[in-house]
Amino acid sequence: MDVIEKVDIRDEEGNTMDYSLYKGCSFPPHVVGNVRDLVANCAKLKCRQDDVLLYTYPKSGTHWMHNILNMFITGNFAYAGTASYLEFAKIDVIDNMPSPRLIATHLEVDLFPDDIKNGIGKVVNIVRNPKDVAVSYYCFLSSMKGVGFTGTFDSFLRFYLKEEFFFGNWYGALKQWLDIGKTYPKMKIFTLYYEDLKRNTLPNLKRVVNFLEIPRDEDFCKSVIDNTGFATMKRHHETESKHNEQFKDVVKDGVLPIYRKGEIGDWKRWFTPAQSELFDRVYKERLAKYDLDLVYE
Ligand code: A3P
Repeated sequence: MDVIEKVDIRDEEGNTMDYSLYKGCSFPPHVVGNVRDLVANCAKLKCRQDDVLLYTYPKSGTHWMHNILNMFITGNFAYAGTASYLEFAKIDVIDNMPSPRLIATHLEVDLFPDDIKNGIGKVVNIVRNPKDVAVSYYCFLSSMKGVGFTGTFDSFLRFYLKEEFFFGNWYGALKQWLDIGKTYPKMKIFTLYYEDLKRNTLPNLKRVVNFLEIPRDEDFCKSVIDNTGFATMKRHHETESKHNEQFKDVVKDGVLPIYRKGEIGDWKRWFTPAQSELFDRVYKERLAKYDLDLVYE
């Protein structure tokens, strides 16, 4: 049987980061239950043709896209809060959600439900530039308890660049999507870059609608934009987000610290030139064979 390895890394300044390694995948401590059960339950989850699975590497705009997709799917503009995640919600909760289901996940693609890999349901994949993700993740983890990180940004970056960093590391996560046509040719996927969504929202929302094959016209898309702007969502989150069972042990009152800045290029206020060079070097090496044009500012 595959072993669940508990990893507790500690750097020279004494900062620690805990996670579980199982079947080569890394899971932060706040995933639900035992990772072996989680992996088994996810693989056999029964999917439906009208399921939409939102995949993101953490801090890539999951809440933003969840709310956008929810508006398109339900046809109304109510704030939908935080998604139910494959790895944070109990599997029964996911199993019993009424159709059409919108589910989120940060799990590596190999751990997706077999049905999704075989083309039952659709997958929306959001990618954000890794430097802004790093800053957003650092700020997020620094404000959590139990799974938090108490060190400096520099020490966080060293963890973040490790191959075994949470959920397969940002570059590993991206690679799986760049190769997806070969690995899971039947999966129905739509990939969208956070930066494109931010800069050219309307045309990209129309692309989302096309992918979903749902009849929503341009006026509907414009209302979605009005209702999912950063300031609007932040206000809803602060006033309406109630205790969330999925995160009850890791954040105060179960409400996640999500709406920080919502900008492209905030990393420039955090990275020193040396950190930025190191980062560029590591990512260039790791993604050398791909022709990528990521937007950093
Ligand atoms: P920052 O920390 O850079 O501000 P996730 O939902 O995957 O955890 O991602 C959180 C990030 O998405 C945060 O980034 C958050 O501010 C940003 N975000 C949330 N809603 C947004 C919106 N409507 N427009 C742009 N960015 C948004």
